[in-house]
Amino acid sequence: MATVTFTSPIMHGPKSVYAVAGDTKTILVLAEENHIPIPFDCRDGNCASCLIEVTYAEPSVKKGITLTEKEKLKLKELGKLTAQDIEDAEVRDLPPPYRLACQFIARDEDVTISFSGRAGWGLSGGSRSGGKGGGLSAPRTPPRIFKDRKYQATSSRGTMKSAGSA
Ligand code: FES
Repeated sequence: MATVTFTSPIMHGPKSVYAVAGDTKTILVLAEENHIPIPFDCRDGNCASCLIEVTYAEPSVKKGITLTEKEKLKLKELGKLTAQDIEDAEVRDLPPPYRLACQFIARDEDVTISFSGRAGWGLSGGSRSGGKGGGLSAPRTPPRIFKDRKYQATSSRGTMKSAGSA
């Protein structure tokens, strides 16, 4: 059983959920089941809307990393995956810091999943530290795809609020 903690500027606070060991659900599916509003579109590694940053509770522990070619291509386009990251993943079994939620399956490790609420964090490309429009700040506009009815845009500036809050 792995603990997956989601955090984002558009959430009221971190939320931890359990992923069953041996389950093959992606982080995106796990998020949807728990009303975590990670933006998404294609669900197939093609659009990069579901960009996430992954932090491992035990980063030095080797993992069996499976990066699909689509995921590698998209993360490289966004400036979120370097040649060193690919070599670390494929040769040393060390996980890369950024993934696509629709491609990443949590196994038995505890992880924290961070996302901005902007699809692909602005899809701007650029540096590993975020690049233009690529940081983990709250979105100026609500995510285009937002399935959790509990959350709704509450102002023209796109501030996200829980329907239950004042
Ligand atoms: S939803 Fe399109 S890449 Fe994940």
